[in-house]
Amino acid sequence: MSIWAVLVAAGRGERLGGDRPKAFVRLGQLPLLAEPLRRLDECEALDGVVVVAPEGWEEPAILLAEEIGASKVTACVTGGETRTDSVRAGVAEVPVDAEVIVVHDAARPLLPPDVVPRLLEALGEGFDGAVPGVALADTVKRASDGVVAETLPRSELVTVQTPQAFQAGALRSALERPDDGLVPATDCASLVEANGGRVRVVAGDERLLKVTTPADLERVNAWL
Ligand code: CTP
Ligand code: MG
Repeated sequence: MSIWAVLVAAGRGERLGGDRPKAFVRLGQLPLLAEPLRRLDECEALDGVVVVAPEGWEEPAILLAEEIGASKVTACVTGGETRTDSVRAGVAEVPVDAEVIVVHDAARPLLPPDVVPRLLEALGEGFDGAVPGVALADTVKRASDGVVAETLPRSELVTVQTPQAFQAGALRSALERPDDGLVPATDCASLVEANGGRVRVVAGDERLLKVTTPADLERVNAWL
């Protein structure tokens, strides 16, 4: 079975507010991108990795992959305006015979080694997709203009991370559907769900924290 990863790193990192895209902000001794790239490369189940970089940063991304010896990286493509556009660009470079595609945010650098195997196990049970989820500590309410409209049942809620794994056909067909133009999708699983796919939630990991703000970067740096 052939399993490929798409690492999306084409965001601008506006909330981080650096002088370069988030994937190239320094984490430890190297650009942030090096960490998730190395961890995906070390993931035994994966056959290849496609990197999606911001426009103008394709070459630095390839050079970085070479520098750290990430030999599974076969291509680096330019991202798009939205995350979904970037995923679409990356998936287009995955060989057509790949059976499973794992999509990961470069903004979650600290991928623990047991997460991808957990996702693949769920796909083996017949699901179209699998996502890492973490239970919530806080109560969640839906509010409109500062007024509570509804309190949601916390026991049913999870926050969802990446990597997310999919049967390649389910992801490709979900990506072919035009965006509904309402709320932009913030993950791939929501596209697969909207396309009728069944998605399993497996245990997530707090180390998969997404670097959004400078404080997140400090935390991830401390966990390195
Ligand atoms: N991403 C991408 N292409 C985009 C937007 C996002 O590849 N057009 C990627 C980011 O590089 C990141 C992941 O999707 O790895 C999650 O996005 P987010 O955390 O929102 O990162 P940014 O969009 O870079 O940050 P911001 O929204 O603060 O600008
Ligand atoms: Mg963003």
